[in-house]
Amino acid sequence: MSHTIEQSPERLLERFNHKFGRSDEAVSTFFAPGRVNLIGEYTDFTGGLVFPCGINQGTTLLIRRTYNNQYRFSSTNFDLMAQLDQSEISQTYGDNWINYPLGVLDQFTRRGVTLDGFDCLYSGNVPNGAGLSSSASIEIVTAYALNQLLKTELSLLELVRISQSAENDFVGMQCGIMDQFAVAFAQAGHAMMLDCHTVEHRQVPLNLNGLSIIVTNTNQRRELNESAYNHRVRECQRALELLAPATGITYLGQLLPEQLAEHEDLFANDTVPLQRAQHISDENARVRAAVPALEAGNMQAFGELMNASHDSLRDLFEVSSDALNQLVKLAREQSTVLGSRLTGAGFGGCTVSLLPSTDVEPFINTVGPAYTKATGLTADFYTIQPGDGVRSISPDTSL
Ligand code: GLA
Repeated sequence: MSHTIEQSPERLLERFNHKFGRSDEAVSTFFAPGRVNLIGEYTDFTGGLVFPCGINQGTTLLIRRTYNNQYRFSSTNFDLMAQLDQSEISQTYGDNWINYPLGVLDQFTRRGVTLDGFDCLYSGNVPNGAGLSSSASIEIVTAYALNQLLKTELSLLELVRISQSAENDFVGMQCGIMDQFAVAFAQAGHAMMLDCHTVEHRQVPLNLNGLSIIVTNTNQRRELNESAYNHRVRECQRALELLAPATGITYLGQLLPEQLAEHEDLFANDTVPLQRAQHISDENARVRAAVPALEAGNMQAFGELMNASHDSLRDLFEVSSDALNQLVKLAREQSTVLGSRLTGAGFGGCTVSLLPSTDVEPFINTVGPAYTKATGLTADFYTIQPGDGVRSISPDTSL
């Protein structure tokens, strides 16, 4: 496991003081994890079902109020230090990670909250652009910190909405609610079954009985730009427009596979929206089957549903990549692997696989070199420990 928290809160505080200087105002520390989605991909913005869990990697934020209408953002991961005044925080900052906190600040301002300056140091160990929600982790940790420091008393769900809107309205990615929700509400040892339409969720104990969840990073940097993702959102909207009059559905996540089978003719030559709708209705059915399978300890069935999910994302939703397909193929060739699929938005990034804990080492030793041989890339492997959601960290608490 290569990504652990490299820096203790004490060490980060030193770096904070070094970058921004000391002051009498207290520095507060917060942490939000990344997430891995076990099944239910690309269903969230259609009001469908998802089944993610928090991970033990995440983003630590050290933050201090300044009261001088100046905003400074820095990160231990990148060199940049941005200094903005009040008039600049409502505009995007190039194509930079700072847009995630800025988007959150913008949402607070839109809700009538007066902001008067912060110094912020971020330190993250979620690999960027890998489908593990590094951006939601930054957004949620920022929203949570502002809520505490400004005593705005917004609910955790409201902070999730703020963070999703930051991504939708400021960054321009029309994502659903899954990432921000998972990062906020994660519970150690659990995955959550979330209905993205009602936002009802249920924490399901991840009793893995000798199995491990392994995330493998293709290290093919995700070529996901907002436009590829937003394109899928529009294709799903088109499918809904075609289906709504005949079926009475008001959001695509409601669509059952049998309803689609009955109304396929509505798509005439519009095969792309048909494929997208097929994925959405099947994927929701898979989540509905996967969660009881897990609860009944039928991990074989859970793994098969993971496999079917990947195949559908590859063939019907078309968000996989050669590197992801290669990694999934190699994983499935290992006789003890129960299931393997891409996780997150795809177009590169990570896979998630389920296998016996005793086989993790041979898995890494076989799949790693075979993947390099096939693609010229080096994969990273992480064993996932489902971790807690966003929280305050006092300097003496170990992460
Ligand atoms: C990204 C988005 C999520 C979700 C996934 C795909 O992570 O931010 O809202 O749509 O892709 O399941």
